[in-house]
Amino acid sequence: MALIKWNDSFSVGVVEIDLQHQKLVALINDLNEAMLQARGKTVLTRILNELVSYTVVHFGTEEKYFETYQYPYTMSHKKEHCAFIEKVGSFKADFQSDKVGLSLEVMSFLSEWLQNHIKGTDKKYSAFFNKNGLK
Ligand code: FEO
Repeated sequence: MALIKWNDSFSVGVVEIDLQHQKLVALINDLNEAMLQARGKTVLTRILNELVSYTVVHFGTEEKYFETYQYPYTMSHKKEHCAFIEKVGSFKADFQSDKVGLSLEVMSFLSEWLQNHIKGTDKKYSAFFNKNGLK
């Protein structure tokens, strides 16, 4: 069963960003599935790398729009993005050097962070972006 099930409560009202969030959800679900099936390190590393690089792409998209439309909460939002990239980056490094394995705890951190960030921090820009014509 999927760790995160997408539904309309995740929508931020901007199609491009909803599609990116759906891809992040799918990657976290894939990673969880691969961990539960005890897939090898090569498979886990491939999905983890994809998750990290797509997260960077996604944050870049939001931040580009923050700049374009002069979003007033840019600083605090970007801080959350940076902290997450740092945390996942250090986890990835530890995983690759066999210091830690993928665990339910790690999956629950990733899943909860993403859901809380989308439903809390991201949703705060919905009305602002829509008002600027971004839908
Ligand atoms: Fe959708 Fe702020 O990340």
